[in-house]
Amino acid sequence: MPRTTIVLLLAFSAATLALDNGLMRTPPMGWLAWERFRCDIDCENDPKNCISEVLFKDMADRLAEDGWRELGYVYINIDDCWSSKERDAHGRLQADPKRFPSGIDKLARYVHDRGLKLGIYGDLGTYTCGGYPGTTLDKIEIDAQTFAEWGIDMLKLDGCYSNATEQEQGYPLMTKALNATGRPIGYSCSWPAYQGGLPPKVNYTLLGDICNLWRNYGDIQDSWDSVLSIVDWFTDHQDILQPAAGPGRWNDPDMLIIGDYGLSIDQSRSQMALWAIMAAPLFMSNDLRTINSGARAILQNKVAIAINQDPLGIQGRRLVKEKSGIDVFWRPLSKGASALVFFSRRSDMPFRYKTSLKALNYAAGSYEVYDVFLEKPMPVLKDTTEFVVSVNPSGVVMWLVLPSTRWQQGAAHLSKKPTGPKFYQRQQLVDSPFVL
Ligand code: GLA
Repeated sequence: MPRTTIVLLLAFSAATLALDNGLMRTPPMGWLAWERFRCDIDCENDPKNCISEVLFKDMADRLAEDGWRELGYVYINIDDCWSSKERDAHGRLQADPKRFPSGIDKLARYVHDRGLKLGIYGDLGTYTCGGYPGTTLDKIEIDAQTFAEWGIDMLKLDGCYSNATEQEQGYPLMTKALNATGRPIGYSCSWPAYQGGLPPKVNYTLLGDICNLWRNYGDIQDSWDSVLSIVDWFTDHQDILQPAAGPGRWNDPDMLIIGDYGLSIDQSRSQMALWAIMAAPLFMSNDLRTINSGARAILQNKVAIAINQDPLGIQGRRLVKEKSGIDVFWRPLSKGASALVFFSRRSDMPFRYKTSLKALNYAAGSYEVYDVFLEKPMPVLKDTTEFVVSVNPSGVVMWLVLPSTRWQQGAAHLSKKPTGPKFYQRQQLVDSPFVL
């Protein structure tokens, strides 16, 4: 075969394989049922909390009416246990008729009418993790088609009850099937989580081509221990994971549990800050009907969200791990900005951590600093100025760092793609953090 033909063929097969929905150029944001509501199907005794259309309509109302949607939280995602135990006469998945009497298509309309998007859950395997009908290889096309006809906007495809070979075939086949529907459907693949999350079993280049996001690791639970173990795993493997992320392709350390029962306010800020640094999808799993104002303020923090949603889409990393139990994380942002997180693993008292921007590899120059959770600007810092941050036990101090307009040159290296001389003005930041 002539060389050009081979090249063309290769290019063609790669093109048909890649997910072509153009979605999720920044990490997706929204709400996902699983961590908070699990597989509660007891609608008789627990009608407000069971997995039913009532729950998703309630949460859609809250997303639309309580300021979440405007901040970017637009996906409302169904997880396991939504379906009937049997497929219909045509072999199609169907919603449980008692709990979703109107059907998923009507629910999608309800969600779309409120300016939101609807996600659904499937499992590449014989059964879902909760024991509901799975999507075996022969059912991939029909399930993709069904979801598209219902008006679904995102699919989480779990991996229970399948083996490595089936996953290797099935995840790319679903990409193809979703492409074939013609409907842009965000695609979340749990594949790496079932293969230990690391090469050589996991190919992050391939995942980036065929999925918009992927779960790398185990399930989050409602506890600080769980958050910490996830942060540790992602940080330990940052050299592998960090380069895998980018616009349209994200590592997913799992849901935000802020607003539930397991985290203090400081720990909630830590989860928000670290998920923002990691360019993680922000899917809350909480009860938006009863969430307290402290948790809401953290989840609705505009600068933390803007950092998470930075258009460059470069995942951050840990820069420093101090013996004192302080870790420093950094993420480069567009327009020469960057984010810093000082995180304490200590359990005694607020720790006074002393450092300088120079010690954190910042170039010579002056920098404006905005404290994300104090919600106020700090004094301008020179790279050589020593400063002290007081970090609460299991808490964070999070900064947005901007090259001072007087010293624009110095910070150009902070962004991999510096966008030229139009640097950001402090006033803009306070008024409108979304234009970072
Ligand atoms: C797996 C997934 C979870 C959730 C459950 C549902 O454990 O990792 O996120 O979807 O299945 O059963």
